[in-house]
Amino acid sequence: MIVVTGATGNIGRSLVGRLLAEGAAVRALTRDPARAGLPAEAEVVRADLTGADDLAPLLAGAEALFLNLAAGGDRAATAVLDAAVKAGVRRVVLNSSMAVTDTPADDTNHIARMHAGLERAVRDSGLEWTFVRGGNYSTNTLAWAPSIRESGVVRDAHPGAQGAPVHEADLADVAAVALLDRSGAHQGQAYLVTGPEVVTIAEQVAEIGRAIGRETRVERISEEEAAEAMSGPHFPKEAALELVKRFGEMVDAPSFPVSDVVERVTGHPGRTFAQWARDHAADFS
Ligand SMILES: NC(=O)c1ccc[n+]([C@@H]2O[C@H](COP(=O)([O-])OP(=O)(O)OC[C@H]3O[C@@H](n4cnc5c(N)ncnc54)[C@H](OP(=O)(O)O)[C@@H]3O)[C@@H](O)[C@H]2O)c1
Repeated sequence: MIVVTGATGNIGRSLVGRLLAEGAAVRALTRDPARAGLPAEAEVVRADLTGADDLAPLLAGAEALFLNLAAGGDRAATAVLDAAVKAGVRRVVLNSSMAVTDTPADDTNHIARMHAGLERAVRDSGLEWTFVRGGNYSTNTLAWAPSIRESGVVRDAHPGAQGAPVHEADLADVAAVALLDRSGAHQGQAYLVTGPEVVTIAEQVAEIGRAIGRETRVERISEEEAAEAMSGPHFPKEAALELVKRFGEMVDAPSFPVSDVVERVTGHPGRTFAQWARDHAADFS
């Protein structure tokens, strides 16, 4: 049985479906099973991982764990990891980040520090592990949905910034292979997982326009304004500004890394951003 944290999230929901399709038993964790809308075949269990709940029953009888930092933050993730060790879970697949580079640079920015810290805890746990170091998620563009619906305009500091946005279904597919693996082939692997092609912010906005059949365009704003708009209770303004500045470095960058891990691990090509936009057209309409 496989425990999925963040089971109603972007990756989690896709992962639960994939694991069930592969015939695995799944325990899907959510703070609100009644609203989760998860498949009936999954064992859907209520869990607030930042609360005082006893975590032991959540991991009991599990063989593998999908650990997502988004499900309550790093202290919650560490507590779930400890509970997994105590429960005799064998394998953990950590949803990590491309920001982690295994160099001293990992100490220089918020996102890398957070994920690298959790990677260290996972390595030290003694469990078999695989890291899914995702690049920029296509789902980040869902933040544009209100303004695209309202005016077709996206405000961004760096319209020419390049990326290789990755579809949540591809992250889930890679995670599923590692969670289900009994050969050890994915053990101890830190997979950099990106989308299959380089696309600028302006091209992503245009692609969403094509998917919904409406004209869309980007309006340039300052880095400060972009960071302000991006920050929130769980993402401080300084961290947002770091990220916005990193996007600035991606404008006309000579070679944005595009990985072939999706194809290598799952056997199918990575989904393009155009595909993602079609899959999510309803979110922007
Ligand atoms: N965005 C990027 O470009 C990027 C790049 C690399 C890595 N990442 C990593 O990916 C993560 C995001 O993954 P995602 O998009 O799949 O997440 P997501 O869609 O935000 O889902 C997170 C889920 O966690 C659950 N959750 C939230 N608080 C919880 C709590 N206190 N206790 C238990 N569950 C809780 C929520 O489910 P319920 O409401 O049902 O409880 C939610 O559906 C980031 O945090 C980061 O670590 C992101």
